[in-house]
Amino acid sequence: MSNVILPPGWKIPESRATPEAVFQNRREFLKMMGIAGAGVAGALYAGPAWAQSSLWQRLFGEDKVLNKNFKTLPSLTRNPDFTYRRAMTKEDVALKYNNFYEFTSTKEGVWTMIDKFKPRPWKFKISGLVENPMELDVDELIEQMPVEERVYRHRCVETWAMVVPWAGFPLKALIDKVRPTSKATHVRFISFSDSVAAPGQRKTRQPWPYTEGLTMDEALNELAFMVTGVYGHQLPKQHGAPLRLAVPWKYGYKSIKSIVGIEFTNRQPETFWNTLIPHEYPFESNVDPEVRHPRWSQRREKMIGTGEIFATQKFNGYGDWVADLYS
Ligand code: MTE
Repeated sequence: MSNVILPPGWKIPESRATPEAVFQNRREFLKMMGIAGAGVAGALYAGPAWAQSSLWQRLFGEDKVLNKNFKTLPSLTRNPDFTYRRAMTKEDVALKYNNFYEFTSTKEGVWTMIDKFKPRPWKFKISGLVENPMELDVDELIEQMPVEERVYRHRCVETWAMVVPWAGFPLKALIDKVRPTSKATHVRFISFSDSVAAPGQRKTRQPWPYTEGLTMDEALNELAFMVTGVYGHQLPKQHGAPLRLAVPWKYGYKSIKSIVGIEFTNRQPETFWNTLIPHEYPFESNVDPEVRHPRWSQRREKMIGTGEIFATQKFNGYGDWVADLYS
C-alpha cells in the first residue's frame, strides 16, 4: 500500500508526473512477467466477459464495443496549473467503469447500454436569476468558450478514483456570460430525461431527471469545470456527453453528466442523491477522510485499473484552491 505525500501547494511540474505511455508500458511489462496485481483489478474493471471476448470484438469492432465513435478534438493546450501526482488512468479502463444510473447501476455495464442515447443535437438552456438567459445548441455554446485541457483527479464516494485529462471550460466563463443577478445564491444543474434510451429512468420512485447543485461561490471557483471532452476527443456517452461538470474536490456524484440546463436560484436546490438518501449524500459533499459515511470508509481510495490504494486527502488534494470557501 502506498501513500502520496503532496508537496506544499500540491502542484508539481508536469515533468515530474508519470507520463501515461511510460506508466502503461511499465504495467504491460509487469503483466507480461505475470506479477502485476493490476491484472486482477484490470479484469474486474474490464466489463462483462462476453464483451471482452475477441469473437465479439471481431464481429462488432473494438470501437463499436467501446462506443468509441467520437470526434477527435483539435489539439488543446494543457493548463499547467492543474497537474496531478498519480499516473493517468488508462482510457479504456475509464470508458468501461462508470456510474450512470440513467442506464444501469452496474458500473461495468454502462458502456454496453448506451447505444440508443443520442447526445447530439442537444439543446442547452440557462435560466433563472440571470440578466442574459440563453437557449442554444450545445456545440454553438462550446464554440464560444475558452476550451483547454486539465488533468483532474476524480474521487467517487464508493472509494474508487481515477485521473483523467478532461477538455472543457471554466464554469466561471459561462457564468460571466449570463450575468447572474445579485439575488442568485445557488446554481442548479439538470440532466436529460429520456426513459426510452435510458432504462434506469423507468424506475419511477427515483427523482429523475438527475440534478445537482453548487453554491454560487463554489460555481465561481476556478476548479469548477464544464467538460466537453476527454483524452483528446469529444466526450463519450458513458462519461456524460455532450457536456458534464467536474468538481474534483467533491465526491463524484456532484459531477453531473449530460447536462441540459443550468438554473440560477436564490435557495439551495434539491439534488438527486440528497432526495433519495439525505443522510448519505449531503448537499456539500466535499471529499474528506474524516467524515464518516455509513457504507464506505472514506480513509482510503482505490485507483481503477491498477487497484493501487492511496490515503484519501481532504478536498481530494485541492485544498489550496477551495479550503477558503469553507473556513
Ligand atoms: N450524472 C448523471 N446524470 N447520472 C449519474 O448516475 N453519476 C455520478 C456522476 N454524474 C451520475 C452522474 C457519479 S456517482 C460518479 S462517480 C460520476 O458521475 C462518474 O463519472 P464517470 O462514469 O465518467 O467516471
